[in-house]
Amino acid sequence: MLITIPDLLSAEHVQRCRQALASADWTNGNRTAGHVAAHVKANRQLTLDDPIGRQIGDLIVQALRQHPVFQSAALPAHILPPRFNRYEGGEHYGFHIDNAVFRLPARPRTGPAHADDASRSQSGLQAEGPSSGLLRTDISTTVFFSDPSEYEGGELIIQDTYGEQRVKLPAGQAVVYPGTSLHRVTPVTQGVRYGSFFWTQSLVRDDTQRSILLQQDIAIQRLIQSGGDPDTISQLTGVYHNLLRLWAEP
Ligand code: NI
Repeated sequence: MLITIPDLLSAEHVQRCRQALASADWTNGNRTAGHVAAHVKANRQLTLDDPIGRQIGDLIVQALRQHPVFQSAALPAHILPPRFNRYEGGEHYGFHIDNAVFRLPARPRTGPAHADDASRSQSGLQAEGPSSGLLRTDISTTVFFSDPSEYEGGELIIQDTYGEQRVKLPAGQAVVYPGTSLHRVTPVTQGVRYGSFFWTQSLVRDDTQRSILLQQDIAIQRLIQSGGDPDTISQLTGVYHNLLRLWAEP
């Protein structure tokens, strides 16, 4: 399941992030690639402890916590702190699959939690802030910080069940796709492409099961909005929770 989130960050936030990213201290992205990926990776990244990266990362995670579509689709248990990359002058990242497991950095949680923000989705669940431990990368997310008009190339190509998806979204928008996917970024031949990428461990590890839950959630929301029969809505909501109970691995 590949979904796009068109309204993750406001234009004002994007502008502020872009100014900060332009002055950030970029290092060779090859250093963070695994042995195999290092052969195909040519871009620049912020180090994991970069203060600008941390600040923007917190903003992204906060926006995701408040976003009902991300909550419904990802059913997040843990979100890794977002990372940042920059491609220009022909830089690219060839086909690869991301590492399956990452260690969460030990780091105090910043910013308030929003306990009621996901109330529109059926699960009503909130991802916890980063704590130490291991995280399984069930879901990948890329947030675009450059508009397509600002650079040539730099498309995120994702192979999924239905073939190749080419993704190049306006600044402030995000794409969410299964961590199991083979993917690449085509060379940026003109301009600069700024982006953020990170992984989420979901309560539901399997993409097909997450997709079924999302469809059920969307159908229930539509029934509620169209004033459907309350008993039917209650019954379908119960089915949603029983499926989630069956599949969730908190
Ligand atoms: Ni990747």
